[in-house]
Amino acid sequence: MQGMLNIAVRAARRAGDLIARQLKQIDAIEVIEKERNEFVTAVDHMAERAIVEIIHDHFPEHAILAEEGGRQGEHDYEWIIDPLDGTTNFVHGFPVFSVSIAVAHQGQIEHGVVYDPLRQEVFTASRGSGAHLDGRRMRVSRCTQLRQSLIATGFPYRLAEQSLDAYLAMLRSVMLETAGVRRPGSAALDLCYVAAGRVDGFWELGLRIWDIAAGALMIREAGGRISDFQGGDGYLHSGHVVAGNPRIYAALSKLLAPHTRGLE
Ligand code: IPD
Ligand code: CA
Ligand code: CA
Repeated sequence: MQGMLNIAVRAARRAGDLIARQLKQIDAIEVIEKERNEFVTAVDHMAERAIVEIIHDHFPEHAILAEEGGRQGEHDYEWIIDPLDGTTNFVHGFPVFSVSIAVAHQGQIEHGVVYDPLRQEVFTASRGSGAHLDGRRMRVSRCTQLRQSLIATGFPYRLAEQSLDAYLAMLRSVMLETAGVRRPGSAALDLCYVAAGRVDGFWELGLRIWDIAAGALMIREAGGRISDFQGGDGYLHSGHVVAGNPRIYAALSKLLAPHTRGLE
């Protein structure tokens, strides 16, 4: 088991360091718009290839689900990969992005790694063994009052107008009731920041499984809560997420509830 986490860390570091080097020549990198507001670069592909190569060297039979390459193989173990989370930031040289790798066994997330190549921070978690930042145990924050909480989020840009309206209503409530809202631009890192106690809560709509898988394990192993808007486990597939330390998670879920109709 430990072996898989080590390989995941090695792969995330290799990809992240490659991304950080490419940042220096960002003006030469071609950006392709996959769909409206969804960007990909050769760097996303290079990082993904580097990760998959390391996994295949050690676990050739395992299945892969990667953002750019899709699904490869069938196996009880599946590696869920976002080679560059925060591509919009990356292409603008805005220094917030990460690499996210999770390992699922029969659909259950067992290990997660998120690497921030600019701060060189490695976030890791294994189910039942806690969550760590650079080897030190992470705990969610102790903030109990929404009024004093700092909340991270992501702005939706793939959603139909109805969901945008729902999101804006949520944002309004959160701005009115908390100490502040941040939109850093890498959902995988946002979730790690909940686990590390750097923010007290997080919510976003329409994420993908590779944005969430590693960070969700991080939060649970750091003593936090994460769910969909109904309080259930469907978030990996619906992409609708609310998270936080236990008290802020409960208060934030309640605050968002009036605006979540139709968001299953
Ligand atoms: C994006 C980032 C962003 C979130 C978007 C994601 P990408 O991932 O996680 O924070 O708001 O929903 O798509 O496309 O840069 O890998
Ligand atoms: Ca992503
Ligand atoms: Ca990505």
